[in-house]
Amino acid sequence: MTESEDALAILSGHYVRLFEDHIGKLLEAKNDGVPPRLKECMSYSLMAGGKRLRPVLCLAAAERCGVGPEKALPMAAAVEFVHTASLIHDDLPCMDNDDMRRGRPTNHKAFGEAMALLAGDALMMWAFGYALSRLPHAGIPYETVSKSVAILAEAAGPSGMCGGQVLDTDRESQSGTADFVYSIAGAKTVALIRASVVSGAILGEISDTALKCYHDYGTHLGMAFQIVDDILDVTSTAGELGKTPHKDEAQGKMTFVAAYGLDGAKRLAEENSEEACRAIEELFPEGDLLIDLAKSLAGRKY
Ligand code: IPE
Ligand code: IPE
Ligand code: MG
Ligand code: MG
Ligand code: MG
Repeated sequence: MTESEDALAILSGHYVRLFEDHIGKLLEAKNDGVPPRLKECMSYSLMAGGKRLRPVLCLAAAERCGVGPEKALPMAAAVEFVHTASLIHDDLPCMDNDDMRRGRPTNHKAFGEAMALLAGDALMMWAFGYALSRLPHAGIPYETVSKSVAILAEAAGPSGMCGGQVLDTDRESQSGTADFVYSIAGAKTVALIRASVVSGAILGEISDTALKCYHDYGTHLGMAFQIVDDILDVTSTAGELGKTPHKDEAQGKMTFVAAYGLDGAKRLAEENSEEACRAIEELFPEGDLLIDLAKSLAGRKY
């Protein structure tokens, strides 16, 4: 770990602790009408760790736009609920058919396919209901809440994550050109990562110029993130990743490594990470966690 990654772990660790404490309490709530087995199934995936990149981005962006992380927590929970649901569904036998996630057996391996499907559906719905009902209690105006939640909905929906998963898995939807991987990643991964940043930022007071910086930062950070995910599938181990490596080639996935080779993909990850830094440096010429985050993600090991 380099010095900047060390600093990053300390800085984002503060957001991660706040976030995990928040969702831990939510999941402990009694008499909320949720069948205990469903709660167990959702908690199993939600509380298994994970990098928490999306909630950290959401909380950090909100704080930089004048909204304390405690107030933005319902939005951060919403993005992580959607993300976790997408992982549960991504691992199903009808999708990527994976056995391991976040260092444990995948949700359907532990609870069966019907429960995994329903836990994913429940998390998606909970995400939107929770953000819409809780953010106003934190003093965020309704109009702002609805804008922020709409950004997440669009990023998760047909032209975002769900659409991207179609491009990733449905042969009939694919084109053989190398740059098609950008379309897949842009929808399945970038949309949600960018929305994590932007939905947090717009909870506060923000100019159009600053919003564009956050938007462009999220776009390039998200792209670098998926490129590195494709690289790690080839270069990393199950122990480091918490998921099974060497699956993309075996399943004929259209990845950045397949399209551009390992070295080509590494170069593209670096370029996107640098673009992300450039986009946000305008706002923080003296340095910031968001810049360190973008730098460290290109070289991440898990
Ligand atoms: C995995 O996301 C799915 C992709 C979009 C590549 P993460 O690598 O952020 O997964 P967790 O949240 O850390 O488990
Ligand atoms: C998944 O991409 C993106 C999602 C929307 C969940 P991958 O299929 O590459 O993610 P991993 O490698 O299984 O985490
Ligand atoms: Mg997949
Ligand atoms: Mg997968
Ligand atoms: Mg992958």
